[in-house]
Amino acid sequence: MASLEINTLVKKFSETTAIDDISVRILDGEMVGIIGKSGAGKSTLMRLINRLIEPTSGSITYNGIEITSLKRKNLRKWRSKCAMIFQQFNLIDRLDVLTNVLSGTLGINFKLLKLLKIYSKKEKIEALTYLNNLDLSDKALQRVGTLSGGQQQRVAIARAMMQNPSILLADEPISSLDPKNSKAVMDDIKRLINKMASWSYVTCTPLK
Ligand SMILES: Nc1ncnc2c1ncn2[C@@H]1O[C@H](COP(=O)(O)OP(=O)(O)OP(=O)(O)O)[C@@H](O)[C@H]1O
Ligand SMILES: [Mg+2]
Repeated sequence: MASLEINTLVKKFSETTAIDDISVRILDGEMVGIIGKSGAGKSTLMRLINRLIEPTSGSITYNGIEITSLKRKNLRKWRSKCAMIFQQFNLIDRLDVLTNVLSGTLGINFKLLKLLKIYSKKEKIEALTYLNNLDLSDKALQRVGTLSGGQQQRVAIARAMMQNPSILLADEPISSLDPKNSKAVMDDIKRLINKMASWSYVTCTPLK
């Protein structure tokens, strides 16, 4: 079975050791929560996994492939395989819901048509299907900035799905939502993960 393996990982920022010798194995289909107090290194670990930053030492492998040494095209591919959702959604407020979701394909395809925001019919149908699954189809043409927090996070989930990822990394995905929306968003994520049994999901939550 495919797995993400982190071995003796260390990340130092000059005097600060943010990640101190972490080893963990996450199998496909598993949902893993990382809990720790503010500054414990949760976001740093996520950024190391999708290679936004480089480790000081140690290794991260996925299906036996060392991802800390990937370069250029392979690195871009890896980043698109690790979809991320964030506390602040990171959507483009002035664009409509559908265009935000379709922008998930940018990570996989750098063609000029994509840069001009021209998407195929197949991609549009796929995006609308995700929105429908997340109960948002009636909002497709609405500006994202006008949606509620819970709705915006579900748009971010749909955008992540458009990347066709192997791993979903979620950095405090519900901490800016009220309890009802938090539950709805987590239920949606769980439902999508169960549908795609070959997914891994890593989330992090601050320790209160
Ligand atoms: N780019 C950076 N430069 C210097 N120090 C950094 C950098 N990024 C993170 N750190 C430090 O690394 C440590 C871990 O930070 P990180 O953001 O991973 O914590 P966290 O667990 O996500 O905290 P929070 O719950 O507050 O989000 C902190 O001490 C932080 O100040
Ligand atoms: Mg953090």
